Amino acid sequence: MNRIAVSILNCNFGELNREIAMVNGSSAEWFHLDIMDGVFVPNISFGFPVIQAVRSQAAKPLDVHLMIASADRYIKEFRQAGADWLTVHYEACPHLHRTVQNIRQEGMKAGVSLNPHTPVSLLEEIIGEVDLVLLMSVNPGFGGQAFIENTYEKVSRLKELIEKKSSGALIQVDGGVDLSNIARLAQAGADVFVVGSFIFRAENPMQTIDQLTGQSTIIR
Ligand code: DX5
Ligand code: ZN
Repeated sequence: MNRIAVSILNCNFGELNREIAMVNGSSAEWFHLDIMDGVFVPNISFGFPVIQAVRSQAAKPLDVHLMIASADRYIKEFRQAGADWLTVHYEACPHLHRTVQNIRQEGMKAGVSLNPHTPVSLLEEIIGEVDLVLLMSVNPGFGGQAFIENTYEKVSRLKELIEKKSSGALIQVDGGVDLSNIARLAQAGADVFVVGSFIFRAENPMQTIDQLTGQSTIIR
């Protein structure tokens, strides 16, 4: 069964409680929350009040993906708002080792994300200390973009590194994931799949999640 983290970036925020209930009732494993600051990425999404609102209704872990500068300043607040997993960008953290330690000290699982152009080999010295690596399969900032094909190879290279270093890190893929690429990504070694617009654009989001997890084989 594929593990799905549902990105709410492209959900209907006017019906947030209904969208959360749908995810609660689905076979998805996590909520994925994309935090954008208009500095690290060319878009602004949402902040603590929305995370808290999701937390109050969600029956599943919150996987919070920070696309922000100065993440260190806000680690405690993200914990307080309800994050269970906190992922920061390699490209936005000059003292990544310290940041990862701080996230774990706050009682969260720590993830590191790589932009499409950032090689997996740069994680060599930190891979033993992280719980998750998020490979961006689009340039971060927006939902609904086309999947970058080079990601398959990147997943395989990351899998090799994780095995070589006996790391327990999960491999997460984020951006443009849908039924056309999920099986090949799983084959390459990916563990968790972030999916946003493919779910919220679907006529039947809950059934679409079942198709992605592999619980249902009906293709509509
Ligand atoms: C993009 C975000 C993704 C995005 C995924 O910067 O990190 O989580 O919401 O959405 P889709 O599945 O639409 O590419
Ligand atoms: Zn994301």
